[in-house]
Amino acid sequence: MGPDLKNRNLINTLDFSVEEQEAVFSLAGEIIKGPRAYSKLLEGVIMASLFFEPSTRTRLSFEAAMLRLGGGVIGFSDSGSSSVAKGESISDTIRTVCAYSDIIVMRHPKEGTPLVAANNSTVPIINAGDGGREHPTQTLADLLTIKSYHTSIENLTVGCCGDLKFGRTVHSLVRNIGRYNNVSFIFVSPPELTIPGFIKSHLDENGIAYRETAALEDAIPQMDVLYMTRVQRERFFNEEDYIRLKDTYILDKKKLALSGPGLIVLHPLPRVNEISYDVDDDPKSAYFVQVGYGMYVRMALIAKLLGAV
Ligand code: NCD
Repeated sequence: MGPDLKNRNLINTLDFSVEEQEAVFSLAGEIIKGPRAYSKLLEGVIMASLFFEPSTRTRLSFEAAMLRLGGGVIGFSDSGSSSVAKGESISDTIRTVCAYSDIIVMRHPKEGTPLVAANNSTVPIINAGDGGREHPTQTLADLLTIKSYHTSIENLTVGCCGDLKFGRTVHSLVRNIGRYNNVSFIFVSPPELTIPGFIKSHLDENGIAYRETAALEDAIPQMDVLYMTRVQRERFFNEEDYIRLKDTYILDKKKLALSGPGLIVLHPLPRVNEISYDVDDDPKSAYFVQVGYGMYVRMALIAKLLGAV
C-alpha cells in the first residue's frame, strides 16, 4: 500500500517526498474515519518520548497517538530528571534508549540534535522540534488541516504572520508546501523578525513566488491560509526586544473581516496575544481542528515508520 516508510527517520521537512507524505495523509484519513480499527496495531511496541524543551501539544499528541495505536510510552518531559543532568552525551542517551524502545521522538533546544540522535540510533527518530530550525511533524498537521478545508494543497496563497525569524514551524511549513503546485507566500512580520535568508534563497532557487510586508490588514484579503505565530520569547537575546515586538500583530474580528470567504486561520499554538479569543468561534478559525489532526497524523506517521501498515 503506497510507499514504504519503514525504519525511516523524520528529521527535516523535506525528508519525505510529496508522494511519501501523501501516503501518511491518506492513512491519517483512514484512521480519522475509524480509529478503533487501529487500536491494537502496535500492541507490545514502545515509543520513547524525549523532550528536552517545554511542550504541551506535540508531546501529548505523540503520546496519545502511540496509546491509541495500542503501544506503550516511556520517556521524560524534563531532562533535569534524566542522566543528561549528570552530563551524559546525546549519543550515549540514544544508544541506551534504543535498547528499551522501538521508535524515539525527540525535542531539543539545540539545532541539529535529532540528526546526531539519528546517527547513533538503531530505531527511527522523529524530530519534534530542534531549536529555531525545524518542526516537521507540525508541518504534517498543518498540511492535513489545509487539505481538509481546501481539499488540495494546490493554488493557494499562504500568509505567514508574526515571528518568521525564529519560528521553526514556519521554516518547516514554507519549504514543504512550496513543493505543491502554484503555492505562493505573503510574509508578514516586523522588520526585526523577517523570514531568514536561507528560506528566501530556497524559494528563489525553486521559482516560488513570495512577497514581504509589515501590514497584515493590507495582505489578508489575498490570503487563502493565514498562519499566525507566537513571538518566540525563548530565542531572543534580550527581553526588551521581546516586549517591544510581542504584540505587533493581534488578529481580531475587525482584521478577520477583511479576509475573503475561503480563508482559514491556522496557528501551531501556544497562542499568547496574537489571536484574540473572540476569533475562536469564527468558522475560519481552524487552529483547534489543527490540534486534533496533529494527533491523527502522528498516529499515521508512527505506524508507517514502524512498518505496521
Ligand atoms: C510550536 C513549537 O514548539 O515550535 N508549538 C508546537 O509544537 N505546536 C510553536 C511555538 O512554540 O510557538
